Amino acid sequence: LKGLILSGGKGTRLRPLTHTRAKQLLPVANRPILFYGIETLVDTGIKDLGIIVGDTRDEVRAAVGDGAAWGIKVTYIEQSAPLGLAHAVKTAQDFIGQDPFVMYLGDNLIWGGLRRFVQEFYETKANSLILLSPVEEPQNFGVAQLEKGKIVKLVEKPKDPPSNLALVGVYIFDHNIFKAVDRIKPSWRNELEITDAIQWLITNGYNVKPYSVTNWWKDTGKAEDILEANRMVLDEIKTDMSAGIHNHNSQLVGRVVVEEGVELTNSIIRGPAIIGAGSVIVNSCVGPYTSISRGVTIVNTEIEYSVIMEDCRIIDFPSRIRNSLVGGNTTLCRSTSRCKDINLVLGDNSQLFI
Ligand code: DAU
Repeated sequence: LKGLILSGGKGTRLRPLTHTRAKQLLPVANRPILFYGIETLVDTGIKDLGIIVGDTRDEVRAAVGDGAAWGIKVTYIEQSAPLGLAHAVKTAQDFIGQDPFVMYLGDNLIWGGLRRFVQEFYETKANSLILLSPVEEPQNFGVAQLEKGKIVKLVEKPKDPPSNLALVGVYIFDHNIFKAVDRIKPSWRNELEITDAIQWLITNGYNVKPYSVTNWWKDTGKAEDILEANRMVLDEIKTDMSAGIHNHNSQLVGRVVVEEGVELTNSIIRGPAIIGAGSVIVNSCVGPYTSISRGVTIVNTEIEYSVIMEDCRIIDFPSRIRNSLVGGNTTLCRSTSRCKDINLVLGDNSQLFI
């Protein structure tokens, strides 16, 4: 069994953050989203992983390397343009060969592993197994219609969804998927859709089985999805202060992870929270449900339920920062004394003085 993670695409819904970084590398609990996907696949026993890359190839390569960190081999596969998920499959044909493979969308997070899903694929001898989950806004997903437990129809982002069962961004295929991707045509949005390829398999008598997700799953397409994913992952962390802290009169409450070289002065950190290496926090309240990346300076400020990326400076900020996603190297400073909650989605290199 091989793995294929899709880490190309444009990430338009996460602009401005994705003007300067790959959406799959946005951090959740201080680790790129993509790493969670890699670990989920490694946990199923996959040792040979292909990663589809596009414009952000250099960043993805720099973050993931050759796979040695996970004891696997990573092969990078260049997609000429983000022409659809089925196009990405086509691009990976030489890498996959005749082997079955798990395809995993690099911006998805799924809890609880995929071992049983993989086991089910082998036991049922299906040509393809697709993960389904009920969602509140099925029009934003690929949607499956089932009859007596069998998939009868799949549609991509339907205006009028036939059910609330979304295709989760994880699939298992055998080599027949390559026949399907060669036979479908681009959709109205000019993409080769994986839903159309799977529909082709169904129409042509191949065995495509549904599998229900029972655990938490998130497509981190939008800022609020990343904040929710951050909360979910932080909910699972265990206290770790083994790196040591320079603590001057500060309190750490609940489950907190502190990376090396952190300095805390007259502050309260409320877990669950994670504080990145070399960050300095003075006269501030941080957390709960907050991830502070490395090299961040926070002075006289309150932050909760947020993700603050590397090297930000947040000083004397007059409002409590809440439910906010702040890109790297951003400066937030006080210039007046108004004091109200504020919700932010700021890109890298932003500056905000309020
Ligand atoms: O998250 C689940 C949904 O993912 C499914 O319900 C849909 O059926 C499926 O089409 C997909 O929809 P999205 O609109 O969320 O796909 P997105 O364009 O965000 O791409 C998913 C991942 O694949 C993302 O990490 C970028 C990558 N990608 C995307 C395209 C279009 C590529 O690597 N190459 C591509 O050509």
